Amino acid sequence: MFAEKFSSIKEALTFDDVLLVPQKSPVDPVEIDVASSISRHIKVKIPIVSSPMDTVTEVEMAVAMAREGGIGIIHRNMTANNQAQMISKVKREESIKIRNVYTVEPETSIEEAREIMRSKNIAGLPVISNDKLVGIVTRRDIEYVGEGKKTVSEIMVKDVIYANDEIDIEDAKQILYKNRIEKLPLVDKNGRVVGLITAKDITTRKKFPNASRDEEGQLMVGAAVGPFDIDRAVTLERAGADLIVVDTAHAHNEKVMNSIKKMRKAVSVDIVAGNIATAEAADDLISLEVDGLRVGIGPGSICTTRIIAGIGIPQITAISDVADIASGSGVPVIADGGIRFSGDIVKAIAAGASAVMLGSLLAGTEESPGTEMIMNGRKYKAYRGMGSVGVIRGGVSDRYGKISGSKFVAEGVEGAVPYRGKVNEVLFQLVGGLKSGMGYTGSRDIESLKTNGRFIKITASGLRESHPHDIRIISEPPNYQMYQV
Ligand code: XMP
Repeated sequence: MFAEKFSSIKEALTFDDVLLVPQKSPVDPVEIDVASSISRHIKVKIPIVSSPMDTVTEVEMAVAMAREGGIGIIHRNMTANNQAQMISKVKREESIKIRNVYTVEPETSIEEAREIMRSKNIAGLPVISNDKLVGIVTRRDIEYVGEGKKTVSEIMVKDVIYANDEIDIEDAKQILYKNRIEKLPLVDKNGRVVGLITAKDITTRKKFPNASRDEEGQLMVGAAVGPFDIDRAVTLERAGADLIVVDTAHAHNEKVMNSIKKMRKAVSVDIVAGNIATAEAADDLISLEVDGLRVGIGPGSICTTRIIAGIGIPQITAISDVADIASGSGVPVIADGGIRFSGDIVKAIAAGASAVMLGSLLAGTEESPGTEMIMNGRKYKAYRGMGSVGVIRGGVSDRYGKISGSKFVAEGVEGAVPYRGKVNEVLFQLVGGLKSGMGYTGSRDIESLKTNGRFIKITASGLRESHPHDIRIISEPPNYQMYQV
């Protein structure tokens, strides 16, 4: 009975166990398209997601990820209100038409208008009287206020140039440039201000042509929630989250699944559920009508789950087992954890993932919230597992640590990763490596990499041969150096 457990034991593989076979390729690297899906309705230009960890994704990271064409998932180690504020900050960062425009009245004091501009970080306020647009006041007007002026009505521009809300973006651009103005209020047929177009947003849009944007032109952002936190999911959807990521170490748990079922009814944006690592879990979660699956139990650089609990599935096998089930239902798979090099991204996608989620590789960037430190003359940034002692003591305890009174069993470590520069530089190298792998396998797009990618299993000697060897390295190219810890 026990010996039988081993008679047909399955072999499981991870990134270092395999390589992709080079194939005859008709593909020119410049034609390669890496656009993909994160979930049923969220499409992205690059298949990379930043992990919801408190040393990886807050506002700055989410903005940078979305601008480069991926998406960031804001972590949940904070109150629901704080997380909602972060979501709305990302959403307000840019848009074609700003909604919920901040306004003032002619009688508003200059002091108060200045304070609104400062606290909301905005440079202009339409002035409204009896629901009608009567002026506009900008930061410039407020900076150079003449002697004795007290209210907005004394300094505002009265003949405001405005447009109908239906105006398209090209026409709005013409009006802004022709009149050399920065802001164009939009009004409905009753003359009520219902939106605002700014020259700054139009310029930023041009600068980031690949950005992940929603229908209103705002950057897309995801939010993590605990498996039982339906209220939080509702709050975050209201704040503008485009995607809810149910963040648990074991989504294939009956209570978690019952809760996801309720959450599915409570929110209408896409729900990504995870983490899972088996075909059975994929089947059960897909039946709850989730829109994406997050795969990985224990592969992460900071994870100790496999050591502490003896549980997990090497990541390439986990991805392919889940993807076999998910692909039939059109549910994208996100490969989460264990990605150390761009080559691992190529392998994860060839194994069936539609996108990868990164912690460690992004934790070292300028835009991560982790604190900076210098060790042996080199710059590092703090990076820690969400099941580490520091996180559990500080608040979030339901992802990994089983609590009993004040005791808990952590499943992650705390440490530091080398400073890696800006997110756009790191993503440039990662996407460059991905495109190179797609070229070698003759894959013009992500779907063809999934079907074309053929693996071969390697030995420890094959792995040793794969890395630079038998040389004292004097100069490492940046895209190899960035992986060194
Ligand atoms: P990488 O390898 O990119 O992995 O650093 C990031 C992923 O690791 C997961 N994660 C954890 N897993 N204990 C774990 O077992 C932890 O404390 C922990 N914190 C994060 C998570 O899936 C993340 O995206």
